[in-house]
Amino acid sequence: MIRHLYVHLPFCASRCGYCGFVVEVGALDRRDAYLAALRGELAAERSRLGALETVYLGGGTPTLMRPHRIAHVLGDLAPMLADGAEVSIEANPETVDRAAFGKLRRAGVTRVSIGAQSFQPELLASLERQASADQVRRAIACAQDTGFGSVSVDLLFGVPGQTTTQLEADIAEVAALGVDHISWYELEIKPDTALARMGAQVPEEDWAADAYESIVARLEAGGYRWYETANFARPGHECRHSLAYWSASDYLGLGVGAVSTVDGTRWRNTTGLAAYIGEVAAQGVPARIAEPLDQATRRRERWMLGLRLDRPLDTAWAGPPDHPEALVRLEAGGLLETAAGRVVLTRRGRFVQNAVLHELMEYA
Ligand SMILES: C[S@@+](CC[C@H](N)C(=O)[O-])C[C@H]1O[C@@H](n2cnc3c(N)ncnc32)[C@H](O)[C@@H]1O
Ligand code: SF4
Repeated sequence: MIRHLYVHLPFCASRCGYCGFVVEVGALDRRDAYLAALRGELAAERSRLGALETVYLGGGTPTLMRPHRIAHVLGDLAPMLADGAEVSIEANPETVDRAAFGKLRRAGVTRVSIGAQSFQPELLASLERQASADQVRRAIACAQDTGFGSVSVDLLFGVPGQTTTQLEADIAEVAALGVDHISWYELEIKPDTALARMGAQVPEEDWAADAYESIVARLEAGGYRWYETANFARPGHECRHSLAYWSASDYLGLGVGAVSTVDGTRWRNTTGLAAYIGEVAAQGVPARIAEPLDQATRRRERWMLGLRLDRPLDTAWAGPPDHPEALVRLEAGGLLETAAGRVVLTRRGRFVQNAVLHELMEYA
């Protein structure tokens, strides 16, 4: 039985220049039709679901669905939730206020993840974000006042043109907020985005490495555990839904473009909004592209995801790496530690994780 559910809510007011997600812009009049289709797909898939430990409402901009539509989805899910289930929603700052957060909390949301990205007006503008820095600040304060179990903030570093001074200002501001959880991603220039078309470049490797070290050092000093490559949590506030992905647990994804991994098969739902709504209406579930995950793929994913965590990877569960002899070399070089069939990166190894993985694994 599946215990982790992702629900994709694709509507956005505009497409940010760096965004490669499945997003629908200018289609707000389809929200009710989409909600009906989602509930249809959930009903069709319900028999696969056990008591749900985690639910993640992601986007797109889930908060553009407005709280009453979210309440409908969570109302359907309520009888399926395990005791103490984590129910997360992504919130864009310009779409929420005190009243909206209150309604989301009453609808059963336990965890809010606010897409801040930065507090620097120039960077928000270059990322083509809708929210101003003050709207970001207000949204975080409102979420903290609402009494959710956890409040998380997403940030980006390596934004083209970002200076060290701007980075330091973001670090100082977020560290002072007292939020429960922080995700701090290095910006990827995704294909087919406005940023890629402009020929934007990621920063110099040395700058990015220094930036990352400053972020980790400051957040750890502030009492956050660096529990995953890009994620920091106060004790007890780790994202359980993400931990399920990183532990390669099965999950079901509902909605347009959503991905599921169940019993060694991965599938992706149809990516067009009209197609998704039409297919669910006609046949209960959308069209899907499915691929069986062979043993080698599963083993490689377990290593790639498992080494992102600060807790050791159990090799009896993950299987051997492609190049077991590299373990000895990497351990001698101080990049990882092995004991009793468990492997964990050292602090130094975590900063060069990609290089470590390239030594251990073949990539397709
Ligand atoms: C599903 S996204 C979008 C959530 C929400 N719509 C927003 O924009 O705030 C979740 C997070 O992924 C991160 N993200 C999005 N695009 C990225 C990119 N190109 N590179 C790195 N991180 C990215 C952002 O920090 C974002 O908050
Ligand atoms: S708001 Fe989030 S999901 Fe929507 S376009 Fe911007 S980054 Fe992508």
